[in-house]
Parts: sequence; C-alpha cells; structure tokens
Amino acid sequence: MMSKTENGASGIPLLEFSKKYDESQARCYFEKHGKGFGRRLSNWRETVMMRKSLKLAGNPKTVLDLPSGTGRFWEMLAEYPDREIYAADYSFDMLIRGLHMRPEHVTRRIRPFRCSAFSIPLGDGAVESVFCARLLHHIGEREDRLAMLKEMARVASQSVCVSLWIDGNYKARRRRKLEARRRKKRYQNRFVVERQVIEEGFRQAGLKPIGRIDFMKFYSMWSTYVLRKVF
Ligand SMILES: C[S@@+](CC[C@H](N)C(=O)[O-])C[C@H]1O[C@@H](n2cnc3c(N)ncnc32)[C@H](O)[C@@H]1O
Repeated sequence: MMSKTENGASGIPLLEFSKKYDESQARCYFEKHGKGFGRRLSNWRETVMMRKSLKLAGNPKTVLDLPSGTGRFWEMLAEYPDREIYAADYSFDMLIRGLHMRPEHVTRRIRPFRCSAFSIPLGDGAVESVFCARLLHHIGEREDRLAMLKEMARVASQSVCVSLWIDGNYKARRRRKLEARRRKKRYQNRFVVERQVIEEGFRQAGLKPIGRIDFMKFYSMWSTYVLRKVF
C-alpha cells in the first residue's frame, strides 16, 4: 500500500499519482472546488488558512506556488499588487486549465512553468517563499517527502508554507480504521503523516516550524505549517 516511485526518463523520480493529472482530470479538478456548498466552504476556509500562513511568513514579495494545479490560490496570492508569483506544476494540463479559466487580471501576474517538485529549475534562494498546497499528502514515502522539502528549502530564501494531512484528530483516527479494513488495496495515493515524523522531516530539510494553522482543530486532518529556513 505505497505510492510508487520510479525514475522518469530524466532520472527525476516519478510518482504514480503524478501521472493522473491529464486534460480531463484538470477539468474535473478545476470544477470540483466550486461545486456544492460543502466544497465552496472548504475552499474558502483553505484560502483563509493559506493567506494566514503567508502573513505569518511575513507576506513574501516573491512566491513560488508549487504545485499550483489549476491556480486555486492565484487570486489570493495576487492580493498583494507588488508580489511576483511563479506557478509550477508537473502537469502541463493543470497549468493550462488554470491559465485559461482564471481571470485575466490574475493570470497576467503569473509566471508559469512545468516542473517536478523533486527538481525545481530555479536557483538557490530564487524566491522568498515556496507555497505548497495539497502535495505532501500524496507522498507516501518519507524519503520522497524529504527530497521535495529539501528542494523547496533550496529555492526559498526565507520560508516554505506547506499543507498536508496530519494525525492527532478525529478524521485521522477514522481514516486509520478505514485503511486497516482496506489493507489489500494495491495502491494508495493519499496519506496521513504523524506530526512527529513530518516535523523531523522539516528539521532534516533545514526548515523550522514557526506556526501551524489547522483547518479545524481536533477534527480535520488538514494543517498548514509555516516553516522558516534555517541557515
Ligand atoms: C491535489 S492537486 C493540488 C493543486 C493545488 N495546489 C491546489 O491545492 O489546488 C496536486 C497537484 O500536484 C501536481 N503534481 C503531482 N506530482 C507532482 C510533482 N512530482 N511535482 C510537482 N507537481 C506535482 C499535480 O499535477 C496536481 O496539479
């Protein structure tokens, strides 16, 4: 029950889940977060969390949104008129959908490029902050998470904001029970990480937590860490 890591043609690790974001998936993903009251509410709450995380990080002037997906947070990121916004994703289709569907006054602020979070084509400290929403909960292997975190820490000059699923709440306990029943499933692409484990990963990547914002304390698995780069 693991996320599969293989090496792509370029030698950069390629995860099974990374292959699924084709054109039709991109269309579904774009539409999904605006559908129904529950989803719209959770999208709003997540945006509030991510805005707060950037505030804790000192409202950085240059941000890399990775993976940006279809640009769910671009409007929020663009609230600061002088912020430079880089947006990267492994899926070209996700990026294109976002660039076509988001408002033009927002997309003209975006500098998009395709890349893997394992290998970001930017120099050391190229952006003040890396903003990473909904990626790490797809990464089942500790080494893969660490490799990505190290790469984000390399590119950030000051901070990294990451959202992921953590334990210590009602939903995580419920999920654990569900997973125990589903043991035979060949492949899993979403994972809850123990706080202790991820916080040790941050430390190894040279990142120090300076804040944590929970989606809904004691209930939800979603949490965003604000991490300061340690020199
Ligand atoms: C659940 S979506 C999250 C997108 C966006 N952050 C959001 O919250 O709406 C996950 C994204 O990760 C991207 N992705 C998958 N593997 C990746 C990798 N190795 N490097 C960078 N992006 C990756 C996918 O293409 C997809 O757009």
